[in-house]
Amino acid sequence: MIFVYSMIFVAILSIAFTASIKKNYKIYYALASVISIAVSIYEILRIVSHPKLNGLMLNFERAFITGSVGVSFFILVMFAGALSTKQIVGRKLMTVRTELSIIASILILPHGIVYFVRFLILKLPKILQGKMNSPLYLAYILIGIVAFIIMVPLFITSFKFAKRKLKGSKWKKLHRLSYVFYLLIYVHIMLVLLNGRIDKIKVTSYTVIFAIYTVMKIIKQRNIKVRKSNIQSMHT
Ligand code: HEM
Repeated sequence: MIFVYSMIFVAILSIAFTASIKKNYKIYYALASVISIAVSIYEILRIVSHPKLNGLMLNFERAFITGSVGVSFFILVMFAGALSTKQIVGRKLMTVRTELSIIASILILPHGIVYFVRFLILKLPKILQGKMNSPLYLAYILIGIVAFIIMVPLFITSFKFAKRKLKGSKWKKLHRLSYVFYLLIYVHIMLVLLNGRIDKIKVTSYTVIFAIYTVMKIIKQRNIKVRKSNIQSMHT
């Protein structure tokens, strides 16, 4: 249920505080960074000693380190591009799309880095010694790494200073990679879920969300194409 709660929390926050996020984006980036640093420190401490978090704090930490909160922000970024700006929710999300994508990236950094280091230290030696053989596990780790590598340039070029340096067409071309990124995230999550005890609520929630997004995006692109060709035919 952590994903469902994260999704609800992130959606309410983003829609209720759109104006505040737009205006005070630096504060939100700072807050996301503080959370990411705290989560990373806790995860490092977990390797060397046994710090104990309980109850709500433990659930909070899990929500961030497992990627649930970060992915919830990415899902809103996806829908910002798929919803019509004629609808209030679509309009609100569209105005803070860049800010939400930066917050999402900051929040997913500990997940990508901590899990990658854990893989290198704990799992890779076993795999190399032939003591561990799980193709599904390797597949989702590899897909996670590729998704993370794609995310880094998208993250950096979302900041204003980097946007100014890249030409509009180059920026657009680069950011088309976000569709590959979304697909990889979905496959990564599905493989993670298939690898463990299958959580039907999670599989259904992610699949329904990504399927609705895909259909809405295709419809939006088709409408844009039709509108463009109508304008062109009016001018000829
Ligand atoms: C930007 C890239 C990434 C995103 C958006 C992402 C997202 C996620 C999400 C949402 C989950 C939770 C699935 C669930 O609900 O059970 C997950 C699980 C997992 N991811 Fe990633 N991930 C990314 C990159 C990586 C990388 C680079 C690694 C490691 C090299 C990794 C390793 C894992 C592992 C081990 C799990 C299972 C966690 C567990 O069962 O507690 N991920 N990922």
